[in-house]
Amino acid sequence: MKNIKAIIFDAYGTLFDVNSAAEKCKNKIGDKWEGFSNYWRTTQLEYTWLRSLMNRHKDFWQITEDSLDKSINVFNINPSMKNELLNLYKVLLTYNEVPEVLKSLKLKNFKLAILSNGTPSLLNELVKVNNLENIFDDIFSIEQVGIYKPDFKVYDMPIQKYHIEKEEVAFLSANTWDVSGGGNYGYNAIWVNRNENIFDNLDYKPNFQIKNLLELIDLI
Ligand code: LAC
Repeated sequence: MKNIKAIIFDAYGTLFDVNSAAEKCKNKIGDKWEGFSNYWRTTQLEYTWLRSLMNRHKDFWQITEDSLDKSINVFNINPSMKNELLNLYKVLLTYNEVPEVLKSLKLKNFKLAILSNGTPSLLNELVKVNNLENIFDDIFSIEQVGIYKPDFKVYDMPIQKYHIEKEEVAFLSANTWDVSGGGNYGYNAIWVNRNENIFDNLDYKPNFQIKNLLELIDLI
């Protein structure tokens, strides 16, 4: 990877641990907390894709709530947990290594940005509660284009704003489909493969795969 001018991060699952909300309730939910959390996440993503295809947009917060309602039903969880889970989703924690990596990248000459399905207020709040306010040049939300990833309009936002070429972007996501989306668009996409998963068959294979963001420092 040469001539990288901007390093762009997916938010949910890449910087912020989407399982940390349900995990904090594992005493109340019991052993099924992880299956429940994965189901909630998968349903949330399916709703983003389905709503984009149906042309029936709702913002990511509403989709997070709709998918939680279904998951609570499917996993037979006490509905009184709903507000607690939603409140925890607003304050998801970063993965351990994230703050130090971002702080060291900040000292170099890259644009640093988030590009996410989240609403601007959700993303700003996550950045704030994790003390990352001074790190990012921009927080790009799909609300600016009104359609979810992997629509190319989403990946186009930083290119338009920074007047750079697609190949000058290093895009990091832990979500395989988002790596395929950004890679098919033309980014240098780097897969953050935290859990030794298998990649998708969607006409793109990432040239780079890292276990966590610490490995990014050597790559850039
Ligand atoms: C996001 C989802 C894809 O932050 O994780 O855009």
